[in-house]
Amino acid sequence: NREETIKQLKEQIREVPDFPIKGIAFQDIFSLLKSPVLLKTVINLLIEDAKSFGTNVDIVLGLDARGFLIGPSVAMALNAGFVPVRKGGKLPGDTISHSFEKEYGKDVFEIQKDSIEKGQNVLIIDDLIATGGTMLAACELVKALGGNLIGCQLMIELPSLKGIERVTKVFKGIPFKVLINY
Ligand code: PRP
Ligand code: MG
Repeated sequence: NREETIKQLKEQIREVPDFPIKGIAFQDIFSLLKSPVLLKTVINLLIEDAKSFGTNVDIVLGLDARGFLIGPSVAMALNAGFVPVRKGGKLPGDTISHSFEKEYGKDVFEIQKDSIEKGQNVLIIDDLIATGGTMLAACELVKALGGNLIGCQLMIELPSLKGIERVTKVFKGIPFKVLINY
């Protein structure tokens, strides 16, 4: 059953103390993804979650870098396209950017201006939400391009950091789906 499976997945995510900086307990998903069975399992569960938003998704938006590992597989299952949000300076052509703060430092996110058409239904996917700074910046970029944000999806939430609360304070009523909680 789903609960049992999620428990198994959780057991395979390695926690690395003091990475990338002192005081941060890093949740390392690569110790999970290297298993052929668990890779398939986690992607299938994420697809199930993505379908439960119930709205027709045009674009799955994956966040640089670990959101890229799951976004395209989910997009294919939804018959949606995949669009990347990248860290500053990586995308060619016309872009818009948004600066933000996350659990361990500052960053800039960019998106190509022509990657989302006005009114397209967008689902944002990332591996993990901590303080919510990263997800909030991605939501701002979708809004700036006139996309219709239908939800945010994560493999992992660190609930003590209240990231979802932070995002939904600004983007009221936006639904979240999380697979694994800590
Ligand atoms: C991690 C993680 C999330 C973000 C969450 O990404 O993959 O994207 O932090 O933190 P927040 O909720 O406090 O903003 P990171 O910037 O470490 O880089 P990566 O995905 O490129 O490895
Ligand atoms: Mg990331």
